[in-house]
Amino acid sequence: MNEQIDNLMNESRRFAPSAEFAAQSVAGSDSYDRGAAGAEFWADQARDLLHWHTPFTQTLDWSNAPFARWFADGELNVSYNCLDRHVAEGRGDRVALHWEGEPGDSRRITYAELTHDVKRAANVLTQLGIEPGDRVAIYMPLIPEALVAMLAVARLGAIHSVVFGGFSAESLRSRVDDAGAKLVITADGGYRKGNVFALKPVVDEALAADGGQNTVTNVLVVRRGNNDVAWHEGRDVWWHESVDAASSEHEAQAFPAEQPLFILYTSGTTGKPKGILHTSGGYLTQAAYTHKNVFDLRADTDVYWCTADVGWITGHTYVVYGPLANGATQVIYEGTPDSPHPGRWWEIIQKYGVSILYTAPTAIRSFMKLGSEIPAQYVLSSIRLLGSVGEPINPEAWIWYRDVVGAGTAPIVDTWWQTETGAIMISALPGLTTLKPGSAQVPLPGISIDILDEAGEKVSGEAGGLLVVTQPWPSMLRGIWGDNDRFRETYWEKFGDKYFAGDGARRDADGDIWLLGRVDDVMNVSGHRLSTAEIESSLVANPMVAEAAVVGAADETTGQAVVAFVILRASEAGKLEPAEASAVLRQHVATHIGAIARPARIYIVSELPKTRSGKIMRRLLRDVAEGREIGDTTTLTDQNVLNLISTQVH
Ligand code: WT7
Repeated sequence: MNEQIDNLMNESRRFAPSAEFAAQSVAGSDSYDRGAAGAEFWADQARDLLHWHTPFTQTLDWSNAPFARWFADGELNVSYNCLDRHVAEGRGDRVALHWEGEPGDSRRITYAELTHDVKRAANVLTQLGIEPGDRVAIYMPLIPEALVAMLAVARLGAIHSVVFGGFSAESLRSRVDDAGAKLVITADGGYRKGNVFALKPVVDEALAADGGQNTVTNVLVVRRGNNDVAWHEGRDVWWHESVDAASSEHEAQAFPAEQPLFILYTSGTTGKPKGILHTSGGYLTQAAYTHKNVFDLRADTDVYWCTADVGWITGHTYVVYGPLANGATQVIYEGTPDSPHPGRWWEIIQKYGVSILYTAPTAIRSFMKLGSEIPAQYVLSSIRLLGSVGEPINPEAWIWYRDVVGAGTAPIVDTWWQTETGAIMISALPGLTTLKPGSAQVPLPGISIDILDEAGEKVSGEAGGLLVVTQPWPSMLRGIWGDNDRFRETYWEKFGDKYFAGDGARRDADGDIWLLGRVDDVMNVSGHRLSTAEIESSLVANPMVAEAAVVGAADETTGQAVVAFVILRASEAGKLEPAEASAVLRQHVATHIGAIARPARIYIVSELPKTRSGKIMRRLLRDVAEGREIGDTTTLTDQNVLNLISTQVH
């Protein structure tokens, strides 16, 4: 891996910003000093970019590290910042959302209309008993009401927990329980790949588990898929009967800057997802700053499109909070890229004149595979800036993206960040940075990044190691919901007061940063984070399975693919053909966790490679899964095991 990166770093092509782009760049016109003290830099951004009901006098309080407080004596309303102030300042007629449904229906919603919708929804939530600090789970397709729901929850100082619509009933239930959600907002169903996928029935199943004992008092349901749904009188409420009829008068109250805004669950190294907690003022500051400067946003003329779902952090920060705080006009699309035809994305770009596109390398690679003839059928000349997120972008995909989508001229920003960091941390600044395909490049102003060795010493010059953030930043996570110990252990124990990101990184001779992927047992599949431990525990929960080991194996399109090695219980071993057993277990994981976690391949084996202390040697299994020569086996108890596995697999 390091050798490959070294070659890339040496050969890498460079793309200096064009003179026209540089002359007009948003980041270039902000006269900041890169060396400015982080906290003061952010205080200036917070004052410039946001409306404070009560201005703050304190910037950063790190006295109770690692629990940061930013702008703590200031008060604001996040929803007011994303909506009302744009209307008050004369931008009410600007389009906030160009929404495109998968079947081809569409809606155009101005800032004034979105503000009204959110006020109505906030009034309904209040009628349903939602108070500041209450948790609301949101399980929805990508329709405008998903954003309205998030903003209405935020408006009341309550906390949303958006659960991606591809998660199973069981995954939804464990998130509802962990957060103690009082309300679930959902839809009957949504469109995906030409079909309606049910959501409300999944909510019903989730809430019925454990004898129906749970914290939820109401379920608010948007009608979208028109699929049949069961109705629980007294608990279930239709959105169109309540929100559409509610008053659109609602004055936003100010809340302290550290009021929790949302919880978002993400996979860690154990079987249990972590509820990452974000708060208001600091989060919104960094969301707005990065959205404006990294994407070179001209809010009055650009049409921005981030293809993420609101179920992920990218959707929170770069579909909802960043763009709306900045008063941007954006496109949101409900469906999959190939429905009903493989040119769907390009058709959308042409239809709305999208000028900024933010997507993931896995999508770019799938389009590359389909061929450049497809985008060539559409007019993409509106594009002027491209972004990438979720995993390292391979230089080949970078060049294709620039040439085919960006007419060979659009700058590409490769943005490194995490659910935990809340907003972009490392990225080129368009118009300022000379771009290098494959490198995320430089920490943003106000962000302090370092690369350390295992012992916590800084590596200097051209070298690789572990990526850390050395100073607190405004959109940092404030903890793991209900688990302060896990928060300290996961991110702060390894290097004391430095945040350990879990990623490996190398610095090149110019000081640019190249990400090398996770150094823990976390996989990255299509830019989504999955835990090996979570899928292993799902597999062993199946009565057929005695033991399971999961690895992320390199995959040309998805970055990594989930590959499982399973030993069946002796009593089950002869009952099914290995291919059948593997199919049953792949489906088991999809039902148990969600379709995104379904293993690409499951190998039924009779042994697993272990150390003398009984630890599964995942590294060797990765070699097998990737068809590589098997690495160092000196600590393996039984040298024959791998030969055996290899013959069973290939
Ligand atoms: C992990 C975070 C940030 C939103 C999407 C994923 C990987 C993310 C990049 C990039 C290389 C990247 C890292 C990180 N990652 N962006 N530009 N280059 N790697 O959020 O699910 O919290 O995953 O995604 O490994 O730790 P997430």
